Amino acid sequence: MQQLSTKHLLGIKGLTADDIQLIFETADNFKDVINRPIKKVPSLRDITIANVFFENSTRTKLSFELAEKRLSADVINFSSSNSSVKKGETLVDTVNNILSMKVDMVVMRHSSPGAPHFLSKNISANIVNAGDGTHEHPTQALLDAFSIREKLGDVAGKKVAIIGDILHSRVALSNIFCLQKLGAEVMVCGPVTLLPKYISSLGVKVEYDVKKALEWCDVANILRIQLERQQIKYFPSLREYSLYYGVDKKMLDQLDKEIVIMHPGPINRGVELNSDVADSEHSIILNQVENGVAIRMAVLYLLAGVK
Ligand code: CP
Repeated sequence: MQQLSTKHLLGIKGLTADDIQLIFETADNFKDVINRPIKKVPSLRDITIANVFFENSTRTKLSFELAEKRLSADVINFSSSNSSVKKGETLVDTVNNILSMKVDMVVMRHSSPGAPHFLSKNISANIVNAGDGTHEHPTQALLDAFSIREKLGDVAGKKVAIIGDILHSRVALSNIFCLQKLGAEVMVCGPVTLLPKYISSLGVKVEYDVKKALEWCDVANILRIQLERQQIKYFPSLREYSLYYGVDKKMLDQLDKEIVIMHPGPINRGVELNSDVADSEHSIILNQVENGVAIRMAVLYLLAGVK
């Protein structure tokens, strides 16, 4: 059996292009499984997985839990908001207590960049990063690239524009690493205040005009404004942001080609994306969510094979 080159999925940065292809090929098989009348396989029957979420989530948490159940793993869920973290317990103590219940894998979301990396140095279980602050969200990038491959046949050679709040986005960084490893060209677009100063050093094109970004790309991945991570004002108002950077159907109608619209969710409708695009035939947003389960099944299955 082919194996991943890593015991943990901490970020796309630590994966090889071969790792990503192996995850995609495994996800292809699991996508067939979840479309069958009997959607379950016994692959992780002897594995216990803890989903440890220190930050809010809808899609990622549900998607991991469903992926784990489809693989027949035993699943426990931890949410910091109703836990003893509120009484001052540290991250390592919390996780070690969970692990002493004989847990094999930990899926963790945390608001601090590097939290899963820290954990991986302190415990022996396989760690999967489900989003660490503004740093990385590897399974989101994998499901995004997998969805582009499904829609357009390949990722190599495609032009992908990531539009919005790049500064606070873990999805942007993981997407840049993943798309480049697979041979795509990447552009980032947003107001200058929401683009990190180092961004061009990652080998991406930088654009400030959203219409030019849409003209350039085959795929536009639209990101939301992460107000919860903004301590200062980066633009005058949401209304003004929407006026200059919001994507609507009129803009797509003015292009002389069809482009694919993606969004990792949650969408702020009417801010970065209008409903006439989010719910249109251009959008593969719900395909992304569906593919998330197959991708997470593949990641968990492959990591379980690396001790
Ligand atoms: N895309 C994503 O990570 O969504 P959630 O925050 O709802 O998990």
